[in-house]
Amino acid sequence: MSGETPAVIEARGIVNRFGDVVVHDGLDLRIPRGCIMALVGGSGAGKTVLLRTLILLREPQAGQLALFGQDALAAHGTTRQRLRQRIGVLFQGGALFTGLTVLENVLLPLREHGAVERAFLADIGMLKIRLAGLPADAAHKYPAELSGGMVKRAALARALALDPELLVLDEPTSGLDPIGAAAFDDLVRELRDLLGLTILQVTHDLDSIWHGSDMVAFLARKKVLALGTAAELAQRDEPELAAYFRQGRSLAYARQAADASRHQAHATQITGTS
Ligand SMILES: Nc1ncnc2c1ncn2[C@@H]1O[C@H](COP(=O)(O)OP(=O)(O)OP(=O)(O)O)[C@@H](O)[C@H]1O
Ligand SMILES: [Mg+2]
Repeated sequence: MSGETPAVIEARGIVNRFGDVVVHDGLDLRIPRGCIMALVGGSGAGKTVLLRTLILLREPQAGQLALFGQDALAAHGTTRQRLRQRIGVLFQGGALFTGLTVLENVLLPLREHGAVERAFLADIGMLKIRLAGLPADAAHKYPAELSGGMVKRAALARALALDPELLVLDEPTSGLDPIGAAAFDDLVRELRDLLGLTILQVTHDLDSIWHGSDMVAFLARKKVLALGTAAELAQRDEPELAAYFRQGRSLAYARQAADASRHQAHATQITGTS
């Protein structure tokens, strides 16, 4: 994606510390509008802390953060509240309220926000439930009555409640079988296309990284060490990137991508088109 596309998130020089533990030290990240970006990195690298910073649940010790072109760290009170409402979030682990049905869970943010007339609430909730790919009869079930994949979709429906422009997902496909995970990736892409969303998702799923995302931000050494397509990152020589992208199952994906690009180059040579 070109540097000309406006940024939905632009973070510069972010520092996050817990006591003596420095999690981020001068981290930069730019996410263009309409991008599906995967945020990857080892356990404890600071992915969740970064998400919490970007959605304004955590104040960094230093740095600048623009959300939708606005200085987010300088925004307070209702201005900050309005910025937050433009972001839909699916937290690590999903976290639906177990005592509420799917529909009641989805309606919660709408009720809190208070902008929707009561008469329309249920219709809007049902729309979000269907958008998240759930059958209508899931609306009146409790989370314990749903499969793991359906719980993720219900949490996604709730994240969509307030018509966000940016979706932030922390490991949305963890715990799903490969087919369920691939279906969720497809859904995320469809929603991006349909609703014009920008998506930032933490993931360890190789299929999501290689096929479900447009760009990958790789977190290491307390910053975004590399940003690019998975195929680009797999070419890099930094030991952290090589270890992540050129070992184990990742290697198969890297080889597939290299083969595909060789075939593409070969076809271009033959036909003179790209
Ligand atoms: N509230 C907190 N207080 C103290 N330290 C914290 C706190 N939250 C996170 N940390 C520390 O920050 C670092 C990054 O944590 P974070 O949860 O962002 O990792 P992660 O990349 O999301 O890992 P995982 O892949 O396991 O979810 C860890 O060293 C963690 O111990
Ligand atoms: Mg995490």
